[in-house]
Amino acid sequence: MLRYLTAGESHGECLVATVEGMPAGLKVDVESIDRDMELRQQGYGRGARMKIEKDRVHFLSGLRSGVTIGSPIAIQIENKDNTIDRLPPVFEPRPGHADLSGALKYGHRDIRSVLERASARETAARVAVGSLAKCLLKEFGISVHAYVVMIGGIWAKMRAVSAQELARAIGHSLVRCPDRAVEKKIISAIDKAKAQGNTLGGAFEIRVTGAPVGLGSFVQWDRKLDGRLARALMSVQTVKAVEMGLGIRSSQSLGSESHDEIFWTKSRGFYRKTESAGGIEGGMSNGEDIVMRAYLKPIATLKRPLRSVDVRTKKPVKATYQRSDVCTVPAASVIGEAVVAFEMADALCEKIGGDSIHEMMRNYKGYLKQVHEF
Ligand SMILES: Cc1cc2nc3c(=O)[nH]c(=O)nc-3n(C[C@H](O)[C@H](O)[C@H](O)COP(=O)(O)O)c2cc1C
Repeated sequence: MLRYLTAGESHGECLVATVEGMPAGLKVDVESIDRDMELRQQGYGRGARMKIEKDRVHFLSGLRSGVTIGSPIAIQIENKDNTIDRLPPVFEPRPGHADLSGALKYGHRDIRSVLERASARETAARVAVGSLAKCLLKEFGISVHAYVVMIGGIWAKMRAVSAQELARAIGHSLVRCPDRAVEKKIISAIDKAKAQGNTLGGAFEIRVTGAPVGLGSFVQWDRKLDGRLARALMSVQTVKAVEMGLGIRSSQSLGSESHDEIFWTKSRGFYRKTESAGGIEGGMSNGEDIVMRAYLKPIATLKRPLRSVDVRTKKPVKATYQRSDVCTVPAASVIGEAVVAFEMADALCEKIGGDSIHEMMRNYKGYLKQVHEF
């Protein structure tokens, strides 16, 4: 079993993550992890904070000469804006943020003690962990790509392309959207929202390629792969809905339009020509690409704030405003990619087992042979 925990406040000394269960013998590509860290900081519509931070991972334990040894891995990411004890208190909770419920729950009169941890700065640690998981998946030919498909109601037109082409198209886009034709429209929508002191939500899609059949299981509710992926995505700040494959559209379609017919050839084995199920049936991967979407609300910190109540005086006030992003959908897609990569790596470890990459690979080849000879 792979598992992880993170710690750290937005303006504290640093963020840390501990990862347990990573097999021994994995060469960790620190450069690719740092690249993902940088991607999380980018994307048109992000605020000034991201110009201060230069996120880099520092491995404190679990590696020798850049290779995992099977022991817990500790990762540290420095906060350059380490000002937590100098920042002013906050008493005007923002509608849509963790502020009020967190203050009431933990008994904090100063809401800063809530927002410092509720902040999505925490996701820097999750991207580090997910990117590490991508190193493991890569050994088994599995890749995960997330890209923006909609911002502020402006939808991209998606066409079928290879994973490499997709990665290239996302890499060239300021908003991580493979459809260059809508990019300009999205950028001007973000500019417009910013000028109006407003914020914008959207949606990103995630495609996992190369996953074998049989990750996850139908035998118990908490082993279902779709449930695990949905939970991971839902845990990302601002994500308010998750869809697998056709998702909501399938609830409005006929059965004959909603399922992927099954074919077989000697070279390919069993396969589908469509991806309505999004690559998961009965809580298990079916060997096709896994496709899912996450939908995000617009962020809660508004330059033209909504109405709120001062937690000290109980008088009406405008919600607090502090330096903030306008649109975080591109950055959130990087986080979504990371949390999905981690769940896929966990499901892979669970399916094929092994304490080292060597052992896992031996088991993996045996399993693929078994499936091929079925
Ligand atoms: C990458 C990223 C950056 C974010 N930046 C901000 C921000 O600058 N200001 C803000 O109010 N919310 C921001 N959020 C959203 C809040 O963290 C989130 O809305 C809040 O923690 C409440 O959680 P919920 O939206 O899941 O209910 C960001 C979210 C993500 C994914």
